Amino acid sequence: MQIKSAEFVISNSEVSKCPSDNIPEYAFIGRSNVGKSSLINMITGRNKLAKTSGTPGKTQLINHFKINKNWFLVDLPGYGYARVSKTTKKEFQSFITDYFKQRRALICTFVLIDSRHSPQKIDVAFMEFLAENEIPFAIIFTKTDKLKPKAIAQNIAKYEAEMLKDKFEYFPKYFTSSSTNKNGKEEILNFINSINKDFNSGSL
Ligand code: GTP
Ligand code: MG
Repeated sequence: MQIKSAEFVISNSEVSKCPSDNIPEYAFIGRSNVGKSSLINMITGRNKLAKTSGTPGKTQLINHFKINKNWFLVDLPGYGYARVSKTTKKEFQSFITDYFKQRRALICTFVLIDSRHSPQKIDVAFMEFLAENEIPFAIIFTKTDKLKPKAIAQNIAKYEAEMLKDKFEYFPKYFTSSSTNKNGKEEILNFINSINKDFNSGSL
């Protein structure tokens, strides 16, 4: 899929104020600093569309970007940022959980996981939350430029084992990505394109 246009639409902290266009929406979530905003820039080929930073906690709001005039990419704040207060964490939780529970247009969520780490409780717990609320999601293992393919495969296998151990019956669809060398761009865009087609044909 070619990205012909990518426009910032609105930032806000209230789901009720998110755009009301009835078009498919894809959200990017994961720990602070995992590379959500960078990935949005990489797949759209627009380096400055979403704001990125080496310091965790850069993205603070729900940010809507309209792509090719007929679907949304949504950049969200990260979870698990140790330096914010408990109150801020709680506020963040309700704001983000409201988005996931109430956003009807949300057709698929991408949960970003740093490919360098073994399974983290907070990521598994977040995916359980999505599954419990019947919110479709796929995983994207990020920053693959920082690791050898064998080590990436080992970490993914550990995730699979961890998730299948308990709550999950199958391992979700997953991708690998690097915003540095553009690994994953085509696969992620093809996946979005196929869902958009199903949506537009009425089969979703
Ligand atoms: P918050 O908005 O703070 O939650 O972070 P985020 O998940 O949006 O991360 P962001 O895209 O801002 O990237 C965080 C840092 O990781 C930045 O310094 C990026 O340059 C770096 N980064 C992101 N993706 C990659 C990647 O694929 N490879 C490498 N090497 N660095 C990356
Ligand atoms: Mg961000």
